[in-house]
Amino acid sequence: MECLKAPLTALLLLSTLQLSLVNANFYQDTYFNWGYQNSAIWGDGDNLALLLDRVSGSGIQTKNQFLFGSIEMHIKLVSGNSAGTVTAYYMSSTGDHHDEIDFEFLGNVSGQPYTIHTNVFVNGIGNREQQFYPWFDPTADFHNYTIHWNPSQIVWFVDGIPIRVYRNYAKIGIPYPNSQAMKVYSSLWDADNWATRGGLVKIDWNSAPFIARYRGMRLRACYWYGPGSNQYCARNTPSNWWAWPEYSKLSYAQTGQLEWVRNKYMIYDYCKDVYRFHGGGKQDEKRRREEKEEALPRPPPEFSRTTVEASLDHRLTSLLCRTTT
Ligand SMILES: *[C@@H]1O[C@H](CO)[C@@H](O)[C@H](O)[C@H]1NC(C)=O
Ligand SMILES: *[C@@H]1O[C@H](CO)[C@@H](O)[C@H](O)[C@H]1NC(C)=O
Repeated sequence: MECLKAPLTALLLLSTLQLSLVNANFYQDTYFNWGYQNSAIWGDGDNLALLLDRVSGSGIQTKNQFLFGSIEMHIKLVSGNSAGTVTAYYMSSTGDHHDEIDFEFLGNVSGQPYTIHTNVFVNGIGNREQQFYPWFDPTADFHNYTIHWNPSQIVWFVDGIPIRVYRNYAKIGIPYPNSQAMKVYSSLWDADNWATRGGLVKIDWNSAPFIARYRGMRLRACYWYGPGSNQYCARNTPSNWWAWPEYSKLSYAQTGQLEWVRNKYMIYDYCKDVYRFHGGGKQDEKRRREEKEEALPRPPPEFSRTTVEASLDHRLTSLLCRTTT
């Protein structure tokens, strides 16, 4: 009997935890990791504000780690002149070879569009940026920013519309984050050395304090207890809805929505960045590139960290640019 008890307790604990995490609470499920004096949680723990002023930005992270599932946050971004500010909302593991899945919102001067910046890091290497303009004013109201992450794909959703898909092609050598559990983070910080028009527009501190508002955090995700969870969380079981076949690829309607966003609102795609990834190597290639330079898409300055690994990885990835669905 005794030996049965422990797994049973663990199982019960697991389901209680997963239930309690569905409607996450900023008080219970997160803590401030930066700028405590510049953040506030109120109500029943469903509301959070992060603030940036001359002294500091601020940030939170979840107490728990997750491997696969849905991470949902409703955010109302900094309004008015938000140039130079970045509101980051992402998942990340820790260590030198960390994995990371990002949503970042790059501010702009009043009346000019925010940039929705996305990226994926696997084993410490990123360089997989895609950027979009929102089709709405993200400062006027709360919008639903959700990451769906499972063994087959990562999908970034904005108000239920998939804006990006990163599929698991690990079988043919494309790195995919599926072995490291991640915590969820959000922060508001001063990034005026690169964020707005590549760093040309600086923060106007007269507009401070800058405030981003959050609510409706839902962590419908697999709670990570230790290495044993890697298998558990990836398994297609009745409770692991994220591993169900219907979530392994986009539906026909979602594919149409993705195409709509890519055609109308995508402003940067690493897959198509010839200048950035195919520049190095042979001399005549370099000369040809210089001749054509004006015509090619230029990487924003923040993307200067190109590594050999990344370009090798990119050669493979670019083959797959068109097969994201
Ligand atoms: C937010 O978007 C996600 C992804 O589409 C969806 O699963 C979730 O139900 C949405 N949340 C609400 C409150 O509608
Ligand atoms: C800010 O607005 C300018 C001008 O419309 C635009 O080029 C840029 O992409 C926008 N976003 C950022 C983050 O600079």
